[in-house]
Amino acid sequence: MKVVRIDHVYKDYQLGEQKVQALKDITLAFDPGVFLAIAGPSGSGKTTLLNLIGCIDTPSSGKIYINEKDVSGRTPNQLADLRARTIGFIFQTFNLLPVLSAAENVEYPLLHRRDMSVAERRERVAYFLDIVGLAKFASHRPNQLSGGQRQRVAIARALVIKPAIVLADEPTANLDHKTGEEILLLMKRINRKLKTTFIFSTHDRRVIAKADRLVRVEDGEIALLGKRSSGKWSLARHRPTEAVVDEPASALANEEPAVNDDEKQDSAPIEALDSNGENRNADQK
Ligand SMILES: Nc1ncnc2c1ncn2[C@@H]1O[C@H](COP(=O)(O)OP(=O)(O)O)[C@@H](O)[C@H]1O
Ligand SMILES: [Mg+2]
Repeated sequence: MKVVRIDHVYKDYQLGEQKVQALKDITLAFDPGVFLAIAGPSGSGKTTLLNLIGCIDTPSSGKIYINEKDVSGRTPNQLADLRARTIGFIFQTFNLLPVLSAAENVEYPLLHRRDMSVAERRERVAYFLDIVGLAKFASHRPNQLSGGQRQRVAIARALVIKPAIVLADEPTANLDHKTGEEILLLMKRINRKLKTTFIFSTHDRRVIAKADRLVRVEDGEIALLGKRSSGKWSLARHRPTEAVVDEPASALANEEPAVNDDEKQDSAPIEALDSNGENRNADQK
């Protein structure tokens, strides 16, 4: 079973008279449990691809399957329902509600879940705040938290629905390098512990280095696929018609390696990096 299957997907945007081809003939499939980076320069189609996987937007043509279910042709309400139960989102700018506490922000996606009691919700919120290390900050508002803490709240909020997939669009872009690295390691620990599939976009080389699967997009097309095992990347540069990004992360790491050991040995594959120098500047923001 594939958690995500993308079948000959195109996405066009109409910009006045002009048609922008944001994605061209993308075919990919991901196994559950992957920790996957979508890399590529600015404007290459990363956000568009994440929005399609997240059912926030629909393809111009082609099909997307989530847990082997075709999501095309569903009504906006059906898609909203699918998102609410299956997909957690993490954004570059955290997108927390400023008037709510950390705990209330995390609880928010559960509020319309009629099948959960208040006590169940509270318990779930406490569990995920604890997972991201913020149990003591439950009553803090976002403006009383650092950037890294805000992103931790956002991670807990993404996880609270127990999603099959967490999508993160440049989750470290607004964080300093050290904090960004901590956020990535936290995401990776959760990926290992809960087996949640993580798909995140980035143009930061150090973030790519934390992934165990890589899809590089350039100009709306797949340019490169990568897979890391035992710390080494193997890359396929040719553009296959059917790109299967398989093996769950846990299959790579039978013994659940200590994350730090896993991190020290490797760097991002050089081919995955931008040629325009974007990576080198990414952590200076
Ligand atoms: N809503 C939109 N309307 C028109 N063009 C868009 C829209 N969203 C994205 N694009 C265009 O699609 C291409 C891919 O954009 P995007 O997916 O945001 O790239 P990335 O996230 O890699 O920077 C770019 O050329 C961008 O200008
Ligand atoms: Mg983007």
